[in-house]
Amino acid sequence: MSESYVVSIDQGTTSTRCIVFDRRGNLVAVAQREHRQHFPRPGWVEHDGLEIWRNVSKVVPRALSQAGIGADEVAAIGIANQRETTLVWDRRTGVPVAPAIIWQDTRTDTLVETLASAPGAEDVQRRCGLPMATYFSGPKLRWLLNATPGLYERAERGEVLFGTMETWLIWNLTGGPDGGLHITDVTNASRTMLMDLHSLRWHPDSLAFFGIPAAMLPEIRSSSEVYGTATAVLPGVRIAAALGDQQAALFGQTCFAPGDAKCTYGTGSFLLLNTGTKAVHSTHGLLTTVGYQIAGQPAVYALEGSVAITGSLVQWFRDQLGLISSAPEIETLARTVADNGGCYIVPAFSGLFAPHWRAEARGVIVGLTSYINKGHLARAVLEATGWQTREVVDAMNADSGLALTALRVDGGMTANNLLMQFVADVLDVPVVRPMVAETVSLGAAYAAGLAVGFWPDLEGLRRNWHRAAQWVPQMDDRHRAEEHENWQRAVEHTFGWIKSDV
Ligand code: G3P
Repeated sequence: MSESYVVSIDQGTTSTRCIVFDRRGNLVAVAQREHRQHFPRPGWVEHDGLEIWRNVSKVVPRALSQAGIGADEVAAIGIANQRETTLVWDRRTGVPVAPAIIWQDTRTDTLVETLASAPGAEDVQRRCGLPMATYFSGPKLRWLLNATPGLYERAERGEVLFGTMETWLIWNLTGGPDGGLHITDVTNASRTMLMDLHSLRWHPDSLAFFGIPAAMLPEIRSSSEVYGTATAVLPGVRIAAALGDQQAALFGQTCFAPGDAKCTYGTGSFLLLNTGTKAVHSTHGLLTTVGYQIAGQPAVYALEGSVAITGSLVQWFRDQLGLISSAPEIETLARTVADNGGCYIVPAFSGLFAPHWRAEARGVIVGLTSYINKGHLARAVLEATGWQTREVVDAMNADSGLALTALRVDGGMTANNLLMQFVADVLDVPVVRPMVAETVSLGAAYAAGLAVGFWPDLEGLRRNWHRAAQWVPQMDDRHRAEEHENWQRAVEHTFGWIKSDV
């Protein structure tokens, strides 16, 4: 049998997906499984690491059987994953010592406040390109080491291992307790606060700052190289790529040139701008991060605007308020009214990320009158995503000194035409979506395929990109400016709430 396919595993915040791609980058089969979200206390969000691993072992064979292919036809596996989510497990048994702490979890807010004013904090932040925030893995890992008696000592002895989701999956795919590979890639490592952006190594001073034993950390590798061969799920197939999901989407959108940018609309939204081999430090609340690294080549960096809550606001509207029964219904509901009726929702559920970085912010709904109905609320939910994108684009334009001329988008929410039109309207630039909107999975597949010679080079991948849809701005300038001002005033209301005592 010839190896005609690449398999991509996207371990995301709400589900795990396996997609099979052919040589032209076409999607051949997809299997997906959601996992449970645990909210044990306000601000806490957890996943069960074993449930996620079980889901991987279910979706991969299902996707292959849907495609009607065997493992011998798969050239390589690429992995993309929710970033920052922090897991520690026992090296001998493979059992996590605690639930995974999800990137959205804000339990570290007081710890982060203390760390932010500790000596050395500025050096740590400069070295890793990130602000001190609850979002990243370093503080989450420190919290876990503090909260679990004896864990620090076990970590020092190398009895427990730390990993984000790609590390956990690769370890399990390659044997787990029986010699599983304990590795991460540069993009995921760049979200821990522990890596030096330039040397691409764990930095001893940063480890000392957070009090994290080096023995529990994975080895940092490039994003596109053969790490090893799977012994479970797809035995015999090479594992050849790992990228944080947002960096994978940058790769899948073929944003290979400095100045190329994309925004992925998932549970959160993440806008990344390729800055080439230069790590640009933001002065407007953006993150400096590794975009990708192909083995043997210098790393390519990106500026990132991360918005914590966009798709999850629609989920909240569906699950917690019960105003719709499926996510796509929000568009139908929003179209029952002509505008937001003066209502704005700022979903600061995990504080506010870029460009504000305010952990203490809490969500608000403003402008309520008895006129407001659920259609207006649905509009306000969608508009929140548009305005949060605008905030990030404004920061990016200010940092780069260049104005964005078009935005490449992908992710589940791009199926919502009303939302995409609104994004084009508030940014005042065209918004374009490619044929394959599954760019996270595609990017991981591309990186894996490149590593094994399935695809020859970046230029070939670029030729696979085709535009499927475009939205052009239609809002008049005055209306845009008025609405923008209202949004900014609503954002002001998220600050200054009494901090919860959890
Ligand atoms: O940084 C968090 C991000 O990687 C999560 O992405 O698509 O799983 O919500 P997603």
